[in-house]
Amino acid sequence: MNILIRAHSGLRYVVLALLIAAVFAAYSNWQKSKEGDSKIYSFALIATHIQLLIGLALYFISPKVNFDQIGEKLFRFYSIEHIFMMLIAIVLITYGRVRSRKAIGSDKHRTILYFYAMALIIIIVAIPWPFRNLGAGWF
Ligand code: HEM
Repeated sequence: MNILIRAHSGLRYVVLALLIAAVFAAYSNWQKSKEGDSKIYSFALIATHIQLLIGLALYFISPKVNFDQIGEKLFRFYSIEHIFMMLIAIVLITYGRVRSRKAIGSDKHRTILYFYAMALIIIIVAIPWPFRNLGAGWF
């Protein structure tokens, strides 16, 4: 359990870094009307999916997921808000990647830019940053 939380907590920075790098790469490739694909788009997708798997495992064992005390901010956050927003973000990334693969020419990059940027914003909002007092730290 502890190892899973540490992994899930640390991986957030990998996910954020890869998504930010993918968004910048997509913008730049789109502006330059580049034809080819970029590996960073797939790396960001993979990191996000690993985070999803660890998150799902935690969801079933974490004491912070508790529907009997759903009136309390902390339990509501982990039981509903965190998983709901993260799932939307991960669907956007997955769908964006699939659409980008099918797109032709520099449309590939524009598709990544839109979908990954939207997902990135949702993920930043849905992370239990320490200043939100949700019982989570920086690492
Ligand atoms: C990109 C997606 C995600 C990111 C960046 C993320 C990030 C985080 C972070 C930073 C924490 C706090 C860890 C700590 O205590 O230091 C956390 C906790 C948690 N996350 Fe996620 N998460 C993501 C997706 C998910 C998903 C999809 C689920 C469920 C299916 C999930 C379930 C949980 C649970 C249950 C906890 C509470 C663990 C505990 O302290 O007992 N997460 N998440």
